[in-house]
Amino acid sequence: MSPGARRFVRSPLWYKDAIVYETHVKAFYDSNGDGIGDLAGLIEKLDYLADLGITCLWLLPFFPSPLKDDGYDISDYRSIHPAYGTLEDFRRLVDAAHDRGIAVLIELVINHTSDQHPWFQRARRASPGSSERDFYVWSDTDRRYEEARIIFTDTEKSNWAWDPEARAYYWHRFFSHQPDLNYDNPRVLQEMLEVMAFWLETGIDGFRLDAVPYLVEREGTNCENLPATHEILRKIRAQVDAGHPGRMLLAEANQWPRDVRPYFGEGDECHMAFHFPLMPRIFMALRLEDTQPIHDILVETPRIPESCQWALFLRNHDELTLEMVSADERDYMYLAYSREPRARLNLGIRRRLAPLLQNSRPRIELLYSLLLSFPGTPVLYYGDEIGMGDDVALPDRAGVRTPMQWNADRNGGFSRASPESLYGRPVSDPVYGYQAVNVEAELRDPSSLLLWMKNMIALRKLFHVFGRGTMELLHPSNRKVLAYLRRFEEDVILCVANLSRHPQPAELSLPGLEGYVPVEMFGYTEFPPVGKAPYFLTLGPYGFYWFELRPGRRGP
Ligand code: NOJ
Ligand code: CA
Repeated sequence: MSPGARRFVRSPLWYKDAIVYETHVKAFYDSNGDGIGDLAGLIEKLDYLADLGITCLWLLPFFPSPLKDDGYDISDYRSIHPAYGTLEDFRRLVDAAHDRGIAVLIELVINHTSDQHPWFQRARRASPGSSERDFYVWSDTDRRYEEARIIFTDTEKSNWAWDPEARAYYWHRFFSHQPDLNYDNPRVLQEMLEVMAFWLETGIDGFRLDAVPYLVEREGTNCENLPATHEILRKIRAQVDAGHPGRMLLAEANQWPRDVRPYFGEGDECHMAFHFPLMPRIFMALRLEDTQPIHDILVETPRIPESCQWALFLRNHDELTLEMVSADERDYMYLAYSREPRARLNLGIRRRLAPLLQNSRPRIELLYSLLLSFPGTPVLYYGDEIGMGDDVALPDRAGVRTPMQWNADRNGGFSRASPESLYGRPVSDPVYGYQAVNVEAELRDPSSLLLWMKNMIALRKLFHVFGRGTMELLHPSNRKVLAYLRRFEEDVILCVANLSRHPQPAELSLPGLEGYVPVEMFGYTEFPPVGKAPYFLTLGPYGFYWFELRPGRRGP
């Protein structure tokens, strides 16, 4: 273990208090001027991240790969894509992050590999029925598992693809160049456990488990969330706990809350899981100026074991997924957030946060206030802290994966390469382009989004209640106002948010809190104490308050 790793202390349940920042190595900073971001570049920018206040860095796949799905098509699990650096660089990154109190989360793509992976190359040539062949899921017909939906609806027509070499069909839930591994073959899990041990040894703090609902297939089911899949996850968890306690598993299960709940098991599967259905409902509530969609999904959200945590996000590297909403809600979302047809992809909208919110600072701040105060761990997507835009002219999800905008210099300060050798062009339109939106300018502008974010993150980190406490939704009669109490140990926090573009009144009934004094948390201003009558507040357009409720001088 390196010196850096020794100094880094993981407190129990550290992930509950974390602020996660998601980025691509390729998109962050190019240190050697070849046009592609790299590990050395990321190390150079760690001070920026530490200054922002994040405590966990989630890296998208950086393994050798044909890059047909931006690295989610892995051809070697134990090494680094040469464009990004070496294993040595990776170890340096982990140590350098730990030195700054930042944990490192990496991707574990266990459902599928690239068709270029040696396992697949070997499988297609191996004799049918052999263990080598059975690393993947084969069939003589493409009519098996017909109840399984297609995920990449814009590109794929079937979950089966014909392999002329094997003279058989192979199963793939994503692109046809991503054959699914066969977890009915115990050797596959064995290999994956060894891959995990390999990365855990580098000192990383956890894995995001890509596409976990699809590990196992069974006839007559939709092939998602099956008991055998959960059995695999329990084995994975058991190995992590046995060899590397304190490391964290985060499930990517884009499912309804009731179907995600089992991914926590009895605290013996994943520590965390993304709350997919909450995210589109936040956007929907904002546009409708009605808290109902948020209330509905929070009521539907089951309790999870004490050691577990939801991962909350507004945007990520994929399209804003609309898989977990009804058909009507999806139509509404398309209408409200993607008038431009090019912005739609599969069942979702491929835009960044700022353009989705018409670059409205009050709306962006409001949504971040929810993200940072809802029960769970917030996950920020790189560039969204400075209000970066996207490029819908680029294919697939490339438009939300453009180079980080550091300053107004050539290539937005991302790379010294000549523009045509960049992995992708930076956004350069007049509103969101790097000339207008960049880190350097925002660091100098006291009222920038970046500095506002930094303050919000710092404030959130002062109160464990946000990551650990319970949430109690209040029911003001004005449905444009969202109000909730967060409680943990002695702490009580009242959050109130106006989803409307107009000022709104709110009357809050706060039973049991009579005599408490609300102290506004950004300015430490004392508000009148809570009395017998409902507590009355007015909120400006998209305004929000966080109050610490302190017991009054005479006690509650
Ligand atoms: C989910 C990832 O977030 C997405 O980017 C990827 O394309 C699919 N899984 C397939 O690995
Ligand atoms: Ca480079």
